[in-house]
Amino acid sequence: MESRNMSEKEREMSEKEFQEFQKLLEQELGAVAPAKENEEIAEIFRRDGGAEHRTSPGYREAAFSFGAGKQTAEEESQEVQAQPEEAVETVSEQVQETPEQPVTRGKYEKIPDAEELAARAAAGPKAEDMIRRRGKYEKPSGDEEGYFNPEPRKETASQRRQRAKRNSRLAGVVIGLAVVFVISLGAGLIVNTIQAKKGGTSGDGQAAMSVQTGTDEQGNVVTLPAEETTETECSILGIAPLSSFAAVLEGETCPLQISMTTKGQADAGDLLWESSDTAVAEITQDGIIKGVGAGECTIKVSAKADPTVSAQVRCAVRSMEEKDGVTYVDGILLINKTYGVDESYEPGGLTAETQAAFDELAADAAAEGLDIYISSGYRSYYDQDTIYNNYVGIYGWEVSDTFSARPGHSEHQSGLAIDVNTIDDAFAATPEAAWLKEHCAEYGFIIRYAEDKVDITGYKYEPWHIRYVGKETAAELTELGISLEEYLGVDSVYAEDWE
Ligand code: DAL
Ligand code: ZN
Repeated sequence: MESRNMSEKEREMSEKEFQEFQKLLEQELGAVAPAKENEEIAEIFRRDGGAEHRTSPGYREAAFSFGAGKQTAEEESQEVQAQPEEAVETVSEQVQETPEQPVTRGKYEKIPDAEELAARAAAGPKAEDMIRRRGKYEKPSGDEEGYFNPEPRKETASQRRQRAKRNSRLAGVVIGLAVVFVISLGAGLIVNTIQAKKGGTSGDGQAAMSVQTGTDEQGNVVTLPAEETTETECSILGIAPLSSFAAVLEGETCPLQISMTTKGQADAGDLLWESSDTAVAEITQDGIIKGVGAGECTIKVSAKADPTVSAQVRCAVRSMEEKDGVTYVDGILLINKTYGVDESYEPGGLTAETQAAFDELAADAAAEGLDIYISSGYRSYYDQDTIYNNYVGIYGWEVSDTFSARPGHSEHQSGLAIDVNTIDDAFAATPEAAWLKEHCAEYGFIIRYAEDKVDITGYKYEPWHIRYVGKETAAELTELGISLEEYLGVDSVYAEDWE
């Protein structure tokens, strides 16, 4: 009822608008449109919704009153009932399938005849005309004249239901996402708890830190420097021993070294060590083997939190004895930097076994066209004393110790060692050296000072120095890939500097 409160000026403007509208209508229908023609046009719109004339904005505007508000269900029903059968289908489809089209939602209006128009002009614009013009005037892109687009129509009950459905689905999706998020958080906490119980795991591999408080000398509460908590988060993913074989002498100890793949930090407390036979070897929870009695057993190390993460090591506890000033470990003669012999030990030459084994070896090598011969076999204590001191005179004792044994510490004095061919680093590149490395164990020999065991044997690589240990031991040592020191559970270190 805006028009009732219009000022005079507004009223004048509205009259002007109406006159323009009237002019427009007359242009479309003729200066004085015959009432009959108007009636026919109105009938067309009544019959088919004005489908034939929709491209004409003039007809549309004349025939429909846009923005007249939502029709009631009753009005819609009356309209549909008033249509011929064909038109009913059209309107019905449009209502149900394309309800957004305002053209079909307009309200039919009787086209005013000339007389009525004149009366209206005299009376001024009516409220319904003003309402009709509240839409937005739109100018199409083509040559057509513009027309008023109605205000957005109000929702129908069906649309409300559809909107409610859409909102309901949207709410469902939002709630679903929220539930997934909460579950994820919960799962994360659970995983963290499990990992913490396992000994701890921090996703980024960092140890957990805590802020602790204490009191100073005056009794004031102070914050202590952050330090690692005792319960660091960690999980052990894998355990690998540095060697699958460990040997220790009776009554002695040696650490069993392993490497771990962990998530976070791990320490000894996260591992469980067990011996299969404590009468042979005991194992501390720090991984220290103690040789109890000669024999073999298995040492198992596993993750406390997950016993399936484990490793086993074959453990040999060796028995050492000394006979006639010579050391034997499990019956194997041992001479190295730690264990020596005095000048009285004089086998006088290679042992019969050693010589026989070498002869066979050399013969087989020769059969393959290789020349392997003895360049230095047995050497007495005095022979070694001369050789070593010569080197010391040239290189000094520290350097000499890396490639020449002090007197009383050379295997050559035992009659079990042989230097073949040239005592030269170049020998390593010869076919004889390669053959020796591959086949010497078949004859009971080992390459005594291996390239990768320098720190253990105490000597540089000597591809020419072979030591007789017997076929069985040689085969086992070769299979394990370890040095004689490792196999016997001994070291090779001089107790004193050379004078
Ligand atoms: N070349 C070895 C170590 C020896 O002198 O016995
Ligand atoms: Zn040698």
